[in-house]
Amino acid sequence: MAEKIIKTVYEEFLTDDELLHEDKVLLAKARKALNTSYAPYSHFQVSCTLLLEDNSIIEGTNQENAVLSLGLCAEQNALSTYASYHREIPIVSMAITAHHNSKILDAPVSPCGACREVIREFEDRQGNPIRMILQAMTGPVWIFNGIESLLPFPFKRDQIGA
Ligand code: THU
Repeated sequence: MAEKIIKTVYEEFLTDDELLHEDKVLLAKARKALNTSYAPYSHFQVSCTLLLEDNSIIEGTNQENAVLSLGLCAEQNALSTYASYHREIPIVSMAITAHHNSKILDAPVSPCGACREVIREFEDRQGNPIRMILQAMTGPVWIFNGIESLLPFPFKRDQIGA
């Protein structure tokens, strides 16, 4: 029953075996990069990978700070690296994974609201949606064909006259 409800809400709800090879690779890279996460306060490591059109992969992980509100999310760190070094190559997809030191995550972690707005801006900049692939260390995979499914009513740039 729960699965049925999730299927109606999410665009795709897959098991590992049903994943595209490129999605598996992107998730595996994200898992591998978890060791660059700096999360001594939350003990919650998040990793994000971006697949670009030329098949290169960019990584980013969360970086926390003793001033807790200064911590940076994995998604925004990956996108900042992308914007600095690779912005001329469009982003095809984004994978997000997470690991908690003392709790097994049995469902994917989806990006926080702030990251959703940031991802939407990058979609706008490139004029194409970014496919989202979400999975914890194991368990179900949620796929969205763009951030709109996760952020149906974004703040719009035309509202500030841009
Ligand atoms: N975090 C991310 O990196 N991405 C998200 O989308 C949600 C939360 C990080 C921030 C903080 O370091 C830790 O997860 C716990 O909130």
